[in-house]
Amino acid sequence: KVLILDFGSQVTQLIARRVREAAVYCEIHPNDVSDEFVKSFAPKAIILSGSHASTYEDHELRAPQAVWDAGVPVLGICYGMQTMAVQLGGKVEWSDHREFGYAEVRAHGHTSLLKDIADFTTAEGHGMLKVWMSHGDKVTALPEGFKLMASTPSCPIAGMANEEKGYYAVQFHPEVTHTLQGQALLHRFVREIAGCKGDWIMGDYIEEAVAKIREQVGDEEVILGLSGGVDSSVAAALIHRAIGDQLTCVFVDHGLLRLNEGDMVMEMFEGKLHAKVIRVQAEDLFLGQLAGVTDPEKKRKIIGGLFVDVFKAEAEKLKAGNQGHKGATFLAQGTIYPDVVESGGTKTKKATTIKSHHNVGGLPEQLGLKLLEPLRELFKDEVRALGVALGLPPEMVYRHPFPGPGLGVRILGEVKKDYADLLRRADAIFIEELRNHRDEATGKTWYELTSQAFTVFLPVKSVGVMGDGRTYDYVVALRAVQTSDFMTADWAELPYALLKKTSGRIINEVRGINRVTYDVSSKPPATIEWE
Ligand code: XMP
Repeated sequence: KVLILDFGSQVTQLIARRVREAAVYCEIHPNDVSDEFVKSFAPKAIILSGSHASTYEDHELRAPQAVWDAGVPVLGICYGMQTMAVQLGGKVEWSDHREFGYAEVRAHGHTSLLKDIADFTTAEGHGMLKVWMSHGDKVTALPEGFKLMASTPSCPIAGMANEEKGYYAVQFHPEVTHTLQGQALLHRFVREIAGCKGDWIMGDYIEEAVAKIREQVGDEEVILGLSGGVDSSVAAALIHRAIGDQLTCVFVDHGLLRLNEGDMVMEMFEGKLHAKVIRVQAEDLFLGQLAGVTDPEKKRKIIGGLFVDVFKAEAEKLKAGNQGHKGATFLAQGTIYPDVVESGGTKTKKATTIKSHHNVGGLPEQLGLKLLEPLRELFKDEVRALGVALGLPPEMVYRHPFPGPGLGVRILGEVKKDYADLLRRADAIFIEELRNHRDEATGKTWYELTSQAFTVFLPVKSVGVMGDGRTYDYVVALRAVQTSDFMTADWAELPYALLKKTSGRIINEVRGINRVTYDVSSKPPATIEWE
């Protein structure tokens, strides 16, 4: 196994992710763990991470001495390279002038780490790497026994190695995808240089995670808010695998879910997994409070606020315990790694805050419950792979994202039960057709080829004809977008045949809707949702 020491970089988890991609087990720990810890961990290799943007103030952070006494390969990345240099007798020039972004690095000599790894070769025959740099300080003198491994004009020592000891260091970030050969480099380090076997799979992750959950929870009881979304579903399945009936899921059905969604969640978790699930039927409560409210942000506040109230009330009951139950002491959440970074709360608390809107920690504190977050270190695609490995159906695990306020923000203006019922049926048809139509070139369904697709209910009526009569019915808009980060998005060029089939079916099968439109706006300036 590989030990990653975290000096507080925003991208330390990406190192872990790349190591897992090389099928090698790894763990991230803070840079200031004890020498005893490093010894007992018995790593086959150690990786020293970068540090956050203002390395300058923190340049006294060091790796434990045991790292250098362990007799295993060590890879220093960015700040990790600088601390390696300082600790082994080289020199670092501390500066607050930053070099940031794309760079081309010349790979020198033939160290086993970079041998034959290059993006292009210059006219003089130098192997060059396209990399991503983010640093101010730099190494200005190699420690004894090291040779130069890489350089750029502005950073003459951009890589160094002491091959005898198995020490390698790079100033750039191999863990980010902008460094094209980054994965090749990390793969080579852990598999070839350190000799890790590469036999780690998601199935092993389940065993490790299950053991950790059991250890953390002991014989106590856990509550989890199940929404039917990917993260909470995978967390529920994993925790249930670990502690069975010590877990109770609370599923707040706010009446703004997709067609049959509530039943499907119950069937999966109660029916198939035999987990304990409390389904709180709160449709009347939510729709009652939403009556007459048209402002999107107000609707969001009402839905979010009620959700917390309803969940809290259930949690309080479970906390109090009842016959045979001593009461829950843990609240489990499906927090995944991107949520942790966005709310500025990485394990070592060193990464600087980017966004604070997730408020990952609020609810458990209010409830007086301890937190259990078994997916905290995983990326979305890893969470999905874990879900499949746990036996959740791929349709559930690979579902498009669905906003917390649900159909509440897909019915423009006031939310009414009739509208929600019409929208649910129309949306189910659209999604079904997206799954039915395949793109010939890729063989993928249009559901797979889009990042998010849904139907929006427009509370306006338009004229139509049906049979001999005139109709005066509602309009829906279909929305399908392609995006990698949901910050920008393009409308999907769905085949006309798919649109035709969808609109024909909606108008024929959903009485009350007589017109279907397709949204051809990209984000920006439009947003993905209509509210
Ligand atoms: P927009 O509409 O801002 O959406 O382009 C970007 C992504 O965020 C989702 N979204 C929400 N998710 N609560 C959520 O949990 C919300 O209030 C909310 N509003 C938008 C949207 O579905 C898309 O994936």
